[in-house]
Amino acid sequence: KVYNFQSGDLVSQALNHFIEKKSAEAIAKTGRFTVAFSGGSLPKTVAKYLVNNKAIDFSKWHVFFADERCVPLNHPDSNYALVKTELLDKIKAGRLVAIPEDQVYALNEKFASNSENAAEDYEHQLISAFVGKSTVRHPVFDLILLGMGPDGHTCSLFPGFPQLQENEKWVTNIDNSPKPPPSRITFTLPVVNNAHNIVFVTTGAGKASIIHEILDQNSKEYPSGLVSPTRGNLYWFLDNESSSKIVSH
Ligand code: 6PG
Repeated sequence: KVYNFQSGDLVSQALNHFIEKKSAEAIAKTGRFTVAFSGGSLPKTVAKYLVNNKAIDFSKWHVFFADERCVPLNHPDSNYALVKTELLDKIKAGRLVAIPEDQVYALNEKFASNSENAAEDYEHQLISAFVGKSTVRHPVFDLILLGMGPDGHTCSLFPGFPQLQENEKWVTNIDNSPKPPPSRITFTLPVVNNAHNIVFVTTGAGKASIIHEILDQNSKEYPSGLVSPTRGNLYWFLDNESSSKIVSH
């Protein structure tokens, strides 16, 4: 489903309602809400209204990172630091019930200088959070929130890179990311595609051409075009700039 809004602010408002609904549905069914964030502009866009949403039971949230940069958690490049500043700290400041710290699954800093070990450790964190719950071969997230780069990458899955072929691992690593910083860990495509809900949040004119190719022409040339849910739903939340070249939706 493609949702198109006149401004980035309206995207944030719509995401707030959408996430409230998905969170309530998951909590009613399973007692918790498992959500993964990407980096870039996404955490800020998602968090804008969400942090004041008193209808959400944040104490039941389990927060993960769809990709993470291999840097210390207080580093300006850390996706954890970004989500902490934009979301976790603001929820805590504004309300009584915060997201419990042991339900936030951050990169293990011990492995910040070795992306392979960091990926393996993060996969173990996922296993401990999912195995015996909803999971069979790959974890089933309630919601994975994705951004898309101007080259069509998503998570830290870049065009033409071998990480796109990974079918076994849940989390893999990259040491030569074309987008800095070079060393990262990332969910693999089977994990992304296994989620109940996958949401792309893309704003700005820089992404309009690729969005046209993916949504109108079904292009599989870009990692974002390879996101295709096996069991769940795929949503695009777009502003008027990023959707300006779409013709068929
Ligand atoms: C990262 C991201 C990456 C990001 C896109 C879009 O950590 O770098 O997870 O996949 O979401 O590059 O970034 P923007 O929203 O800033 O364009």
